[in-house]
Amino acid sequence: MNESDVILVTGGAGFIGSHACKALAAAGFRPVVFDNLSMGHRHAVKWGPLVVGDVGDAEALRRVFGDYSIAGVLHFAASAYVGESVGVPLRYYRNNVATTMTLLEVMVEAGVPPLVFSSSCATYGTPTEVPIPVSHEQRPINPYGWTKLMGEQMIRDAGHAHGLRSVILRYFNAAGADPDGDLCEEHDPETHLIPLAIDAALGRRPPLRIFGTDYPTPDGTCIRDYIHVSDLADAHVAALRELLGGGASRIRNLGTGRGHSVREVVEAVGRAAGMPVPTEIHPRRAGDPAELAAVSDSGTPSGFRFPDLQGIVDTAVRSRGGKG
Ligand code: UFG
Repeated sequence: MNESDVILVTGGAGFIGSHACKALAAAGFRPVVFDNLSMGHRHAVKWGPLVVGDVGDAEALRRVFGDYSIAGVLHFAASAYVGESVGVPLRYYRNNVATTMTLLEVMVEAGVPPLVFSSSCATYGTPTEVPIPVSHEQRPINPYGWTKLMGEQMIRDAGHAHGLRSVILRYFNAAGADPDGDLCEEHDPETHLIPLAIDAALGRRPPLRIFGTDYPTPDGTCIRDYIHVSDLADAHVAALRELLGGGASRIRNLGTGRGHSVREVVEAVGRAAGMPVPTEIHPRRAGDPAELAAVSDSGTPSGFRFPDLQGIVDTAVRSRGGKG
């Protein structure tokens, strides 16, 4: 393994991809971002070159593989709104499945460098067991989850047929922001709980709508496993190192292993912002399982940098100009 290896990062201008580029650079790798900037931001590409292109464009990908000697690939580029995927499923199959197929074809032509793939706990559907082990049956309940499961399957098949070595990372709820203030969460539209709660506390958005208080959980609100985006980023670097060191393909959950309810998140945001989050109770949001949490290992030798919810929320509040 050569730490100055060039790593292709699809979706590297996005929330998780940009944090991964920072972690790659800190570990001595050279990230080359390939992103169509449909959701990502040019200003988030700070640790290497940006090639503007779409992963569905095989020729554009071939040019990148021709221009750089790519030692490994981190594949983040995807559409990632669960609710939206129900309304426009075919766009999700095109953006997430067809593009991954194209990437895999070009990677096979280019000598099959190893791959770290962004999958999701959405591939489990409604779990029969929480915390969810990586061996849990995968039965998605929305098109987004299906697109990620299909991506996993193509990668496994390419492993058998073409010797592709991969680490598939099933994220739980990515949250927080770079603790040094280099990056933050900038989704448009923003649909995620923590940024919406922070903006509500700071008076920049209307009160937070709590989607459902009648779930079979201790306080009636949904439970999720929030993992800091920098911990996710570090886990990608660790996975890449494993693969570059000759490691075999594997699948890993990326969550802290601890679930928190919507109300607990709201309390944590209020503490970090120094003012309460105004809330309104709304009906359940379609497609939300009551509880998701991972059977987890940190994926890095030193464990998580942000093992608890308050620490995660503090970084998010700071990055949005609150106290934190
Ligand atoms: N929620 C609210 N009000 C809001 C927004 C969210 O009550 O305004 C609740 C949701 O109902 C859910 C929890 O807060 O119970 C977390 O919701 P997010 O939208 O922040 O995150 P999701 O759990 O829906 O989605 C995340 C990722 C997806 C991934 C999914 C897997 O964003 O990419 O986890 O479950 F697929």
